[in-house]
Amino acid sequence: MGRVQGKVALITGGASGIGLSAATLLAKEGAKVVISDFNVDGAKAAAEEITKAGGEAVGVFLDAGNEESIKAAIDFTVETYGTINVLYNNVGMTNLRKDLDVVNMDLEEWDKLMNVNTKSVLLGARYAIPHMIKAGGGSIINTASMAGFAGDSVRTAYGASKAAVVNLTRYIAVQYGKHNIRCNGVAPGLILTPAAKNNMPPAILDIFAKFNALPYHGEADDIGHTVVFLASDESKFITGQTIQVEGGHYMANPSIADVENYMFEMKQQG
Ligand SMILES: NC(=O)c1ccc[n+]([C@@H]2O[C@H](COP(=O)([O-])OP(=O)(O)OC[C@H]3O[C@@H](n4cnc5c(N)ncnc54)[C@H](O)[C@@H]3O)[C@@H](O)[C@H]2O)c1
Repeated sequence: MGRVQGKVALITGGASGIGLSAATLLAKEGAKVVISDFNVDGAKAAAEEITKAGGEAVGVFLDAGNEESIKAAIDFTVETYGTINVLYNNVGMTNLRKDLDVVNMDLEEWDKLMNVNTKSVLLGARYAIPHMIKAGGGSIINTASMAGFAGDSVRTAYGASKAAVVNLTRYIAVQYGKHNIRCNGVAPGLILTPAAKNNMPPAILDIFAKFNALPYHGEADDIGHTVVFLASDESKFITGQTIQVEGGHYMANPSIADVENYMFEMKQQG
């Protein structure tokens, strides 16, 4: 028996990176998986791979910035597999050219990111919840980001949109818990998905690695395994939480290195 045997799961943004890992691992643990993505060819190819490996999956188009499209993906899931037990709201985007500091950021980009990163979570939950209530419960999982827990010099809209996802997660948990619907989030630190590898110069990756408590970078499967846990009944008493999967990057007091240097110098001086 798999850890999510027989559960029906819809994953948004499942053609690549973190979503693809979650879809693959959920299917491996016995879920029937609907992979939805802008990149419908990628979603269908991923579903084929899973099917070839003995799992159950289909791919479908999704535009997470469009309400009708979100509703259609949920309807498709229910029509295909009879219900929806797990919704993984994973789509998220950022634009390093336009999502700048508060004074200089493009306001249209702000609206776009709030729509795609945050409103898509609200809408996914809104259309999945009635089916989950009918099914006797369910698990909604949202991809937040460590950018939602700390300030940065740029990516203002991204950080604000992900912080909103963290609290929206709590609201869904509070409002539908009595229907046996759990809602949790996962907040990745830097994860070496194809997108991250392509967009980040190696020198920046090295800086990130240096500040991890652990001696390696995060990989998509580190998030995928967390999603399987949150989708499974193993986490049945956990709701409203956002689990930070970030290698201890944000754990230490950032002034520690300078304080240690100061103490060292004082010691040297006697
Ligand atoms: N990779 C990281 O370091 C990292 C860190 C923190 C948070 N995250 C979050 O994890 C999630 C997944 O990121 P990833 O790194 O796997 O990205 P990715 O680019 O590898 O995958 C994202 C997938 O979503 C799809 N997609 C994008 N916009 C869409 C839309 N509007 N509608 C439907 N599909 C869309 C893309 O086609 C792609 O298949 C995002 O929410 C991201 O913000 C990633």
